[in-house]
Amino acid sequence: MSTIVYLNDAFIPKEKACISPDDRGFYFADGIYEVIKYYNGKAFCLSDHMERLRRSLSSIRINFTGIDQIESLANELIHLNHMEEGYTGVYMQITRGVNRRMHQFPDESACPTFYMNAYPLPPFINELKKGIRVILREDIRWQRCDIKSIMLLPNVLMYQEAIENGARECFFVRDGYFTESTHSNIFGVKNGEVYTHPDSNHILPGITKRIIVKICNKAGITVKETPVRVKDCKYFDEFFISGTGSEIMPVIQLGDIPVRNGKPGTITRQIQQEFFRITYGEIAGDENYSKWIAD
Ligand SMILES: Cc1ncc(COP(=O)(O)O)c(C=O)c1O
Repeated sequence: MSTIVYLNDAFIPKEKACISPDDRGFYFADGIYEVIKYYNGKAFCLSDHMERLRRSLSSIRINFTGIDQIESLANELIHLNHMEEGYTGVYMQITRGVNRRMHQFPDESACPTFYMNAYPLPPFINELKKGIRVILREDIRWQRCDIKSIMLLPNVLMYQEAIENGARECFFVRDGYFTESTHSNIFGVKNGEVYTHPDSNHILPGITKRIIVKICNKAGITVKETPVRVKDCKYFDEFFISGTGSEIMPVIQLGDIPVRNGKPGTITRQIQQEFFRITYGEIAGDENYSKWIAD
């Protein structure tokens, strides 16, 4: 049975999907994307993702008029791929469309290219439970990391380096401070308080990050939106990352140095537990999540 994707205005088998070599996404990475996780067929934080999609589009001046249809198209995509049950990622990408290669924007007749696919996105149970090791590298990205651009070469290169070094993520460092990692936001915990980089042009304003701030506020945990200095790592008790796919992932080693005792910390566990209760528990109706992180 072939995978069905959505391209421009049609649901088609993936192997029949054709994108022109003149697409500006291909030439210039001139486009933006979003990823939404569906828990048993229900989208998590759909309106936040749509709002960020609008912001990304307007930041790079792509005039795409189909945003209001995305929710029903994504539901149909999940249905056509028989993915109503389980955990699914829906990837969507919009580029500035097809035109001969020139830097200048094409005229109004060029329509944006809209592509969407659905794929299994189960929880990374082993990593969620045990935590991951990360490497640290200079943040060589541009000054508009707040836009969810498809131009991800630094992220790809640094993630590959992480994998080649036996790690699972790379923390970007700008001017001595952690910004974010290749596809997640960074959190540190010191003396029971949670630290994370403030939203700015140097990070993507993560939707999971925003949920974590809400969870902490509700639980009476102080959140300081202050960047963490690499030099100060040794004073931190816990680190974790957040993202649509990573969810709340403990970090147990920075480079060669274990974080405290090299085990996920208690605040990380508390936030994980609440996040899983909302997503796998309330949304998906799956109570097994408690077992994933039990010692
Ligand atoms: C660079 C970067 N930072 C942070 C995130 C986390 O964002 P979200 O929680 O909205 O998935 C992502 C997600 O893809 C990302 O690519």
